[in-house]
Amino acid sequence: MDKQILVTGGTGYIGSHTVVELQNNGYHVIIADNLSNSKIEVLDGIEAISGIKPLFEKVDLSVREESIAFFKKHTNIGAIIHFAANKAVGESVEKPLMYYRNNINSLMNILDAMKDHNIPNLVFSSSCTVYGQPDKLPVTEETPRKPAESPYGNTKMISEDIIRDTINANPELKGIALRYFNPIGAHPTSKIGELPLGVPNNLIPFLTQTVAGMRAELSVFGSDYNTPDGSCIRDYINVVDLAKAHVISIERLLRDKQLNNYEFFNVGTGEGVSVLEIISSFERATGEKVPHKIIERRAGDVEQIYAETSNANKVLGWKSEATLDDTLLSAWNWQKSL
Ligand code: WQD
Repeated sequence: MDKQILVTGGTGYIGSHTVVELQNNGYHVIIADNLSNSKIEVLDGIEAISGIKPLFEKVDLSVREESIAFFKKHTNIGAIIHFAANKAVGESVEKPLMYYRNNINSLMNILDAMKDHNIPNLVFSSSCTVYGQPDKLPVTEETPRKPAESPYGNTKMISEDIIRDTINANPELKGIALRYFNPIGAHPTSKIGELPLGVPNNLIPFLTQTVAGMRAELSVFGSDYNTPDGSCIRDYINVVDLAKAHVISIERLLRDKQLNNYEFFNVGTGEGVSVLEIISSFERATGEKVPHKIIERRAGDVEQIYAETSNANKVLGWKSEATLDDTLLSAWNWQKSL
């Protein structure tokens, strides 16, 4: 039987969209997730879209014994896409040890398993947060990384280096690190999407919950930045386009012998969009009003960052396709389906 693709964190936001695209492309998927930040019902959404309910194991890969047992049981894994990690910037400042323990131990247990069970291929979920506030825009993969502004961001930096050093010591291993910019939107079927627990930190879920009447109004964190309209600029990438970048990465690792042992790719649209532009685009795309007020800046926010994507376009053979309006409409349709 064909090798399986292990998707850790596969019931999460980006993980679930990636499982759909993998299954739509004929891959056999097994999900390992501890369900600390996602719901098992996501499997039903994945099945409703792709017609296949992926294999699933509830497992905490940060616990060495659990990881060892998992990989002893599942011996037909050909590649791993590693999403499973805590990812809330603010929470990481309050609970650094939880972030280092979970995010770094999970990765090290997975790398041990790759060596022990001859699993040669890894796609790692990294983040543009490694660039901090870049001196020059747009950022390329050669833009120097900056000291992290949060323990969360630091776990991404450290993880990239742990993978590099492990691959250097074990040349039979190959890795691709995808540096996500700001993933937004939901599957066009509205069967899966972002399910933030509690009060959302991120802009789009807070915005859609506000329009749905769950929040009084959206606070725009600052309009005194050195940007055209004064609000922060980000590179908002459609979550399905982002999921497709993972499928293409798996295909390249499995088939392209020319690929270097360890590659990084910026996965963004290449376009910078401000918070106020997001609000006006959302209102145009949905016909809904977004009640909002401008308040002071949020500590730790980067003024502006967006990707230079020619490396992903050329070497990976991937580019973003969805329009911002369609992506914002998908986020609104998902919110309405909840
Ligand atoms: C986007 C913009 C805010 C909320 C972080 C992590 C990154 C990744 C995505 C995990 C900023 C503004 C937000 C609100 C606002 N993390 N904003 N009002 O901070 O760019 O990135 O989340 O995968 O690694 O660093 O995303 O959505 O929090 O903020 O004005 O209620 O929206 O100031 O300019 P961010 P975000």
